Amino acid sequence: MQQIPVASLDPDRYAETFGVFVAHSLEYPQMLSELAAIVRDRCPDGFQLLDIGAGTGLMIRGLIEVCNKRPAHYTAFEPNARHARDLHATLARLGLPHEIHETPYSRDTRLDRTYDLVLFSHSLYWMPDPAAVMLQAADAVAPGGSVLAFIAGPYGVHAMFPLFEPRLRRTSPMLQNNAISSHELVIGLRARGVEPQVKMLPTPIDVSGLFEPSAAAELGEFISFCLQVEFSDLPLQLQDDIIGYVRGGCVPSNGRLYWYSPTAAVTVSGHSPER
Ligand SMILES: C[S@@+](CC[C@H](N)C(=O)[O-])C[C@H]1O[C@@H](n2cnc3c(N)ncnc32)[C@H](O)[C@@H]1O
Repeated sequence: MQQIPVASLDPDRYAETFGVFVAHSLEYPQMLSELAAIVRDRCPDGFQLLDIGAGTGLMIRGLIEVCNKRPAHYTAFEPNARHARDLHATLARLGLPHEIHETPYSRDTRLDRTYDLVLFSHSLYWMPDPAAVMLQAADAVAPGGSVLAFIAGPYGVHAMFPLFEPRLRRTSPMLQNNAISSHELVIGLRARGVEPQVKMLPTPIDVSGLFEPSAAAELGEFISFCLQVEFSDLPLQLQDDIIGYVRGGCVPSNGRLYWYSPTAAVTVSGHSPER
């Protein structure tokens, strides 16, 4: 099979297409209610929160809106300059004591605090070994605390990769590896002797109107985010195949069109005794 040379999205285009994807995703309310339940049940008053891959601050902003228990201190790692700008603005508005590291978090990162909760909200795709990074973060968690990861389930976007990735020859690395899902994360955790709690959230993506000719550019941005390439650079036949795949997995309901794409909430305890 002849492979098509393609560049993966760069950080700016990543940030732009992320905005389009998020505008269609209905997952955030469900993720926030899961996060709020963990904060209420497991975090002490005045808890310390570490948000790794905080993006524009959607999760901390949403948490403050839906949960009356606020962190006493919030730390974030966010290396994308564009997102970090928005994150600074979000935190300034929230008036929460915080520190923002505009650097990538890795297994070599040393933290100077302990945390009650570490959150990876859709950020583990960026880590070379997501399970190892998640467990390394667990070392920074106080006894009784948790590490919570939201990560795509092995459906929808993830399932596109075995179908379409073999057609591509990437000329630059994929920044966000959407071929990683909760399935691979759980296998990696078990390989290290840790059994996580996994809850699949029934989170659809609202793609109503996206297949209309007038929305072609927006659909292109949406699919660019999914596959982390410029969709418009792909040959037309491949574009048609990809659109057909996404459209075929959609279900109409109450006048809307939904792509079923569950997100997993994967939790491990801090200082896991099995390790
Ligand atoms: C899909 S976004 C999710 C943003 C946010 N947590 C949310 O749920 O809306 C993933 C974020 O992880 C950030 N990221 C990538 N590599 C990272 C690393 N090594 N450490 C910390 N953040 C990272 C990216 O810049 C991006 O903003």
